[in-house]
Amino acid sequence: MQQLQDKDKIFTNLYGYQSADLASARKRGVWDNTKAFLLVDQDSIINKVKDSGLRGRGGAGFSAGMKWSFMPKSSPDGRPSYLVVNADESEPGTCKDRDILRNEPHKLLEGCLIAAYAMRASAVYIYIRGEFYREAEVLQKAIEEAYAAGFIGKNACKSGYDCEIYLHRGAGAYICGEETALLNSIEGRKGMPRQKPPAFPAAVGLWGCPTTVNNVETIAVVPDILRRGPDWFKSFGRPNNSGTKVFCISGHVNKPCNVEESMSIPLKELIEKHAGGVRGGWDNLLAVIPGGSSVPMLPKNICDTVLMDFDALREVGSGLGTAGVIVMDKSCDLIAAIARLSHFYMHESCGQCTPCREGTGWMYRIMKRLVKGDAHPGEIDELLNITKQVEGHTICALGDAAAWPIQGLMRHFRADVEKRMMKNKNEG
Ligand SMILES: Cc1cc2nc3c(=O)[nH]c(=O)nc-3n(C[C@H](O)[C@H](O)[C@H](O)COP(=O)(O)O)c2cc1C
Ligand code: SF4
Repeated sequence: MQQLQDKDKIFTNLYGYQSADLASARKRGVWDNTKAFLLVDQDSIINKVKDSGLRGRGGAGFSAGMKWSFMPKSSPDGRPSYLVVNADESEPGTCKDRDILRNEPHKLLEGCLIAAYAMRASAVYIYIRGEFYREAEVLQKAIEEAYAAGFIGKNACKSGYDCEIYLHRGAGAYICGEETALLNSIEGRKGMPRQKPPAFPAAVGLWGCPTTVNNVETIAVVPDILRRGPDWFKSFGRPNNSGTKVFCISGHVNKPCNVEESMSIPLKELIEKHAGGVRGGWDNLLAVIPGGSSVPMLPKNICDTVLMDFDALREVGSGLGTAGVIVMDKSCDLIAAIARLSHFYMHESCGQCTPCREGTGWMYRIMKRLVKGDAHPGEIDELLNITKQVEGHTICALGDAAAWPIQGLMRHFRADVEKRMMKNKNEG
């Protein structure tokens, strides 16, 4: 596995040291002979993306090239196809797309154009969370610059291909990051997830037309994959977990940061090399949530050796998710931290399915009692039982996201939860 050097970074302006405007982006190599990608056969682009092993950066880690290949190759009934870029980024602990949007907007736009062409889409909608007001301003300016330069719009890059790009602002609901809720929101409906199956977006998406939804980072890395080649991308990370990745490191570290690194980097190395280490030293570590708030936490002994990729984190009962690494040292009240997340999921549930609407409230109320230690002894098992009733029994994955943090807490720190109850009982 190759170490990532500065020359290998895709996001060379992640921290915004240079301007985000078109002239600066061009100096960094963006929009460099993009036309050449729009003159080759669409399937050859899809095959290159498949070959690179790029997996979606929005959370689920589905193969990007595979997803693109589900889009229709022609439209016998004349319906258009769409690419929708998910810039809703609302997962607690995650702030990577934000830096791409505000500092590398042209990289994203170039990726949109190439991906849309490969999928034979006629328009791209970028759905940005409402709170990203400044980011939306930067991106809108970049869209206007790209139109004025002839890179997008009619006859994009003088290639003969027409591609419109629209920016759509959300109103600030976590659930609108779920891809089908996002489509409903663009259509002006309530931001509630759609039932799938039967209708997946590639067949019935935006306004009933074939649609692919991809995360900002997934799309923004595509031009580099094509320029430098799938083998270059695959040289980082382990097989099936390839490429570079933007990690967001927050919590009890000395220097919280976003950083682009090689996929599969050891978690300990990631934190020590880029975030100045755990506050008080590595031995002061209690637990890490490695992939945004939805994935189960890991105790220190697993963090000592685990690699940061999709498969390694799944093998230890967690997930790479959004790669939002939330570090908690020994001063952290883990039960209170998870109770806070339970409140978040209860608040963000759209309420259309019963297990999630009711279950998130039940879970939060028990968690609240566990924080104080005044739950009944049987309530830990009852709580775990509720998580199992919710997990996998809902329309969208918000139900799983509400269940997993609690399962992670009980898997690794149940004794601490019980100890607090006993202490409370003895003192009471
Ligand atoms: C509750 C919920 C919130 C989500 N929020 C986001 C988000 O903010 N950004 C994102 O890219 N994906 C989010 N997702 C995942 C999307 O549904 C979808 O899988 C993703 O945008 C696909 O892009 P990718 O294949 O490039 O990862 C969310 C999923 C759920 C269930
Ligand atoms: S799981 Fe929750 S958020 Fe998702 S559709 Fe059901 S009620 Fe809505």
